[in-house]
Amino acid sequence: MSTQVAAGHGLSPAGAFPTLEREGLVYLDSAATSQTPLPVLDAMDDYYRGHRASVHRGVYALAEEATELYEGAREKAAAFVNWGVEETIFTRNASEATNLVAYTWARTNLVPGDRILVTTMEHHSNLVPWQLACEMTGASMAAVPVLDDGTLDLDVLDAELATGTVKLVAVAHVSNVLGTINPITDIVARAHAAGAIVLVDGTQAVPQIPVDASATGADFYVWTAHKAYGPTGIGILHGRRELLEAMPPFLGGGHMISTVSLESSTWAELPGKFEAGTGPIAEAIGMGAALTFLDDLGGMAAVRAHEREVTAYALEQLARLPQLTLHGPLDAAARGGLVSFHLDCAHPHDVAEILGRQGVCVRAGHHCAQPLMKRLCISASTRASFGVHNTTQDVDRLVAGLGRVLELFGD
Ligand SMILES: Cc1ncc(COP(=O)(O)O)c(C=O)c1O
Repeated sequence: MSTQVAAGHGLSPAGAFPTLEREGLVYLDSAATSQTPLPVLDAMDDYYRGHRASVHRGVYALAEEATELYEGAREKAAAFVNWGVEETIFTRNASEATNLVAYTWARTNLVPGDRILVTTMEHHSNLVPWQLACEMTGASMAAVPVLDDGTLDLDVLDAELATGTVKLVAVAHVSNVLGTINPITDIVARAHAAGAIVLVDGTQAVPQIPVDASATGADFYVWTAHKAYGPTGIGILHGRRELLEAMPPFLGGGHMISTVSLESSTWAELPGKFEAGTGPIAEAIGMGAALTFLDDLGGMAAVRAHEREVTAYALEQLARLPQLTLHGPLDAAARGGLVSFHLDCAHPHDVAEILGRQGVCVRAGHHCAQPLMKRLCISASTRASFGVHNTTQDVDRLVAGLGRVLELFGD
């Protein structure tokens, strides 16, 4: 198949992304961070120019407006993935959201002999916090391996769960390297049947596929705005109310308290309990605008359909290069909007640099997934990831750029 997606700006309106107006630029690194569309810049600018005040405490109009915008963004984020508003907590990024759970839930619930089950395809931000939690509690970790086709070995998941020692499963919804869309609802059901709770890292899923976090059954669902067309500096933790209420606070300070004496304090209701200090006000407002921007493109079903076409085209074109090994599922239906690959003749950093000189921006390295690199027997890979602005012509530019790499490094 070779469906051609319209030239120019993909699914997004012409001129939506100021950065992409740069002559000759092909941005294929949305999985690292997405570009920022005008409505997001405008919304943040509007806050700073027209409604700048602290939130929650003020009783004057500016503060009320700022609070309305900030809490409106929380409502938007919660609705976007179908989660409760009060159980939607703002953090600094996805890593901090996972650390919040590791430092609070894990520290108070795990004992020696308990295990945390991760997978070999996790981003370091869904591995290292659990290693730290294990150091603190005496619990240990195990990992579900990745099969040769880039999917998880669910037999090992079942075998690990059957030991009865797994208290938490931490798993990516969509892999940032393989693109694999994991069967999250199934994994959660199996974990729950074995008495384990589940944290889902939805960082790559939320910007790429329709997500109903409640329907997955996950106990915690984590994502980040800067990969979903929002600004840097804000991540999101959705948690199950009973768990959040039972967890101790993560960071102490203003806003997260109900009462404070010199001796002790009591905690604010959710979500404030986990939001110490002044929140990411402009960032939340920008994130809300980003989600509205995605809705206005036709919603995540339209985004997914668009990126799936571009990804299918990329898989088809890249498969024609005999020197290139593709990682992850070969079927676009089974993966998100990114492709990682390896060229025997050139190091990924050289590939990315030569592509960069031709205006094609891709990511090279271990992608914060060193255990997965080890599993793939490589030290690094090249990754092209797609966003709403990309087209099949962008893939053609990638393939042409790789042609130049092969001229320089190939036999
Ligand atoms: C799958 C996955 N999880 C977590 C993260 C970390 O996100 P953040 O930078 O917002 O902490 C990333 C970022 O690359 C990612 O791809």
